[in-house]
Amino acid sequence: MVEISTSILNIKSENRIKTMYDLEVAKTDYFHIDIMDGKFVENDTKEKMITYMNELKQISNTPLDIHLMVENVKENIEECLAYNPNILTFHIEAVKEEERKPLIEKIKKQNCRVGIAIKPETDIEEIKEYLPYIHMVLIMTVEPGKGGQKLIPETIEKIKELKEYLDKQNLEIDIEVDGGINLENVDILKTAGANIIVAGTAILNAEDYKEVITEMKQ
Ligand code: DX5
Ligand code: ZN
Repeated sequence: MVEISTSILNIKSENRIKTMYDLEVAKTDYFHIDIMDGKFVENDTKEKMITYMNELKQISNTPLDIHLMVENVKENIEECLAYNPNILTFHIEAVKEEERKPLIEKIKKQNCRVGIAIKPETDIEEIKEYLPYIHMVLIMTVEPGKGGQKLIPETIEKIKELKEYLDKQNLEIDIEVDGGINLENVDILKTAGANIIVAGTAILNAEDYKEVITEMKQ
């Protein structure tokens, strides 16, 4: 089954509470929270995202899918776990090898699912040894840092490669894709093996959220 995680990075701030409510009614499976620190990527969205998460905790029961684009992963994990996310994902590029397994364990101990994200230029070889211990791989289909970009076609091959590897190893973990995804390209990603689709612009700019979300899921 394919699930939809709506990125609220570029939600219009003025009427965000209504939009959050509408997205829940439209049956988004998750709210995708993009936390950026101004170091791992240029933008800094942390304060804004903390505000949004506090609001969501008050008005919604939809699970949170947190995507950390930060250098100090440990500190941010500790802060984010307070919001009881369903999935907490960090970038492999931000964490030294010896710190990766302890971070995975730290997240799991809080009954939260663990995701590892890779940038477009990072090979799936880099994450293979962690796959038995995690719940999801987030394959970035754009360079992390901002919404509204165009999907990088070369990333599709990586989704296929990962899916084949997981099947061969009998590992049942989710493949999430994030960046530049819309109704035109979503089917290619699903066929390649992705089962959690992140979309920001394609959903938030639509007249009818439910229509886009339903169509993306089919
Ligand atoms: C990019 C973020 C994405 C992005 C998705 O760094 O991780 O979640 O906001 O937005 P769209 O769908 O507009 O590319
Ligand atoms: Zn994201």
